[in-house]
Amino acid sequence: MKTIALGLTASLATLLAAAAPGKIAKPPQVTFSKDVAPILVKNCQGCHRPGETAPMSLLTYQEARPWAKAIREAVVLKRMPPWYADSHFGKFSNDRSLSQSEIDTLVAWADNGALEGDPKQTPKPAQFVDGWNIGTPDLVLEMTKEYQVPAAGTIKYEYFTIPTQFTEDKWVRMAEVRPGNRALVLLVIWELTDSHPVIDLAVFKSRNWLLSTLTLSLMFAIFFGNIVLTPMWLHVQLGYTATWAGYATAPMGILAVLTAPIVGRLLPRVDPRWIVTFGFGVLALSFFMRAHMTSSVDYMTVAIAMLVLGAGIPACIITLTSLGVSDLPPEKVASGAGLQNFIRIMSMAIGASITQTYWEHMTRHSRAELVAAIDPTIAQELATKAGAIGFSPERSQSLFSGLVDGQAVMLATNDFYAGATLLMLGLIPLIWVIRRPKAPLKAVAH
Ligand code: HEC
Repeated sequence: MKTIALGLTASLATLLAAAAPGKIAKPPQVTFSKDVAPILVKNCQGCHRPGETAPMSLLTYQEARPWAKAIREAVVLKRMPPWYADSHFGKFSNDRSLSQSEIDTLVAWADNGALEGDPKQTPKPAQFVDGWNIGTPDLVLEMTKEYQVPAAGTIKYEYFTIPTQFTEDKWVRMAEVRPGNRALVLLVIWELTDSHPVIDLAVFKSRNWLLSTLTLSLMFAIFFGNIVLTPMWLHVQLGYTATWAGYATAPMGILAVLTAPIVGRLLPRVDPRWIVTFGFGVLALSFFMRAHMTSSVDYMTVAIAMLVLGAGIPACIITLTSLGVSDLPPEKVASGAGLQNFIRIMSMAIGASITQTYWEHMTRHSRAELVAAIDPTIAQELATKAGAIGFSPERSQSLFSGLVDGQAVMLATNDFYAGATLLMLGLIPLIWVIRRPKAPLKAVAH
């Protein structure tokens, strides 16, 4: 009986063992000499050796053994080896990061007692050239002054400029940074600068650029002030909804689209200053139409002023952007055009917000002036008339107050457009200070 029972338990154990083979099969032993050292040679010893930046040497088993747990953590968290290039953007030939199986090997080694294995199998530590790693370079540039690192304390971020003295552009095939004292350098961030910065302020010295940018920016400021003001005014004054305010401003686009190609055609043939003068003249005319409206203005009057405005816009924008770069040397054209674009967009935003503030302020101001100027007997008379047709005194008072408000808004708006008209006319003489370009102008694409 006993033997049978034993036989049964034994075969059960065999069955269980077959079902969970991992539990029984012994994993291959991970050792320093066979598995770990090759990884250290390839990925770590560049920094982890005497005289380098890393705090400890990892050349031998004796050196690496005490660091086993730290190595495990550093590679699992991908702190080591340092490699910050984003792997989503291509493959780098000097990629020193570890593969997942290499990480697993280092982890298994640390977790299983960090064994040495057979020392005879250990590969030789990596060999490093003491001197240039890239071969003798064609050109060696040195820091102009030595930098003293204090023994203790913190130091500021340091920038060292090393002039190349190149007189022409060069292709760089390879480059190497060699610190005088490698143990003191943690990292070098290397930037190439050149004499054509993205924003080249030298364009300010060009008369045509300066005047074109100035006039274009002022024009944009006013133009956008108008774009912001018109719907606000239509809403307050005439009770327009946003949609109807849109219908009243939209006609601006019609003549803008029609005149843009004409301006492009004329640009190489006509003195561009005439085209800009025409543009500012049209803008002045449109603003003038808006400068003496009354509070009983109708849709068409506003829409026509907007239609006219459209005819002047391309003449100003296309011509002034081209004039702006007309006397710049070819290598400065891009930064000149870019900077001008930036300034005009900025003045657009400033113009829009100043106009709104100005308008609100002026509305209050006009109201105060109106109230002071109103003959009290008129108010009285109105109240009596309103009373006769059945309005309560409060109601007639609020009606009257609304009337004054409406007039105040109208006056403030008219003042804005009178100012805008004068500014547009005032810019015309400035246009004629711009030098006429020698070569025929071409439209600058943005
Ligand atoms: C580019 C140079 C460089 C390489 C390559 C490099 N290290 Fe380091 N390592 C350093 C520096 C510098 C420090 C000390 C500063 C720090 O902790 O960030 C350091 C610190 C460490 C530390 C200390 C603890 C820690 O996480 O900061 C460990 C462990 C370590 N390295 C392991 C490795 C291993 C393993 C490799 C290879 C797989 C490796 N390092 C590759 C530069 C390097």
